[in-house]
Amino acid sequence: MKKLFALAAIAAVSLGAHAQTYPGTKPISIVVPFTAGGPTDRVARDLAEAMRKFVPGSNFVVENAAGAGGTIGATKVARAAPDGHTLLLHHIGMAATPALYRKLAYKTLDDFEYLGMINDVPMTLIGKPQLPANTYRDFENYIRANAGKLNIAHAGLGSASHLCGLLWQSTLQTKDAMTTIPFGGTAPAMTALIGGQVDVMCDQTTNTTQQIESGRVKAFAVTTAKPLSTHPVLKHYPSLQEMGLKGFNLTIWHGLYAPKGTPEAITKTLNEALKKALKDPDFIKKNEGLGALVVNDNRTEPAEHKKFVAAEMAKIKTAVDAAGKYAD
Ligand code: MLT
Repeated sequence: MKKLFALAAIAAVSLGAHAQTYPGTKPISIVVPFTAGGPTDRVARDLAEAMRKFVPGSNFVVENAAGAGGTIGATKVARAAPDGHTLLLHHIGMAATPALYRKLAYKTLDDFEYLGMINDVPMTLIGKPQLPANTYRDFENYIRANAGKLNIAHAGLGSASHLCGLLWQSTLQTKDAMTTIPFGGTAPAMTALIGGQVDVMCDQTTNTTQQIESGRVKAFAVTTAKPLSTHPVLKHYPSLQEMGLKGFNLTIWHGLYAPKGTPEAITKTLNEALKKALKDPDFIKKNEGLGALVVNDNRTEPAEHKKFVAAEMAKIKTAVDAAGKYAD
């Protein structure tokens, strides 16, 4: 027993010493639980660039650990050494997967240090360029007329695109209207959509704005309660609520996490750097250009971030249980 206490004391001292020299020469890896080139990856790369400015001597790198709707990457970080060198950047899937997967290898609220939220991102309902419909009404009629023949892509069970597709399809009340096709992220799904191999997808504006603008995909609606009337590209599309989908309001958010047990001195350094990054004009501009809004409220505080995720978990669980559709 004495030996155990001694070992724990040595570990605490060494982590404490490490906190003083953090980050040292070792890179800080931001794990993205989806494929490179997709919306979560994009937020992570922009954030890494901004945070680099505010953690002196740091080298932030982005690592993609895709699969199972983000749960593979989240598991990796939950099990990583709590030394501030492995972080997780995850979106609403952090709160959705505990509802969609009844067995997870980690506990969302217990196995992470919450470092603060990053941004809120609307979604868009988009289709392959060959679809004959040009308005949301035509699009819905086309889907009903072709029930069973179309497919909808998503980034894996538990992903944001999966959640959006589920919620939207449940309002159509057309049984088995579309077959779902899972990908490791919406970057490869987008390639398939542009190429016409899949028909429909619901994805974040951070991944779709440029594709919509260039005409590589067709957009039909945004998922926020109100249209995005000030955005130069997205203002042209109605909200699903305006189209009669009562109460439909889906916004994706991103947050930053560290493994549980990361020393407070390190989590404080990271939270302070995150808050500065969120005020960085370049980071704000990049987000706004893609229809996203950088968080500018108390959710940048770890305790509020955690409270927000807990509330989202409860809300999504109610919706998922009502739909009765699970990933496992
Ligand atoms: C999602 O649908 O969850 C995201 O678009 C995943 C990604 O970043 O590729």
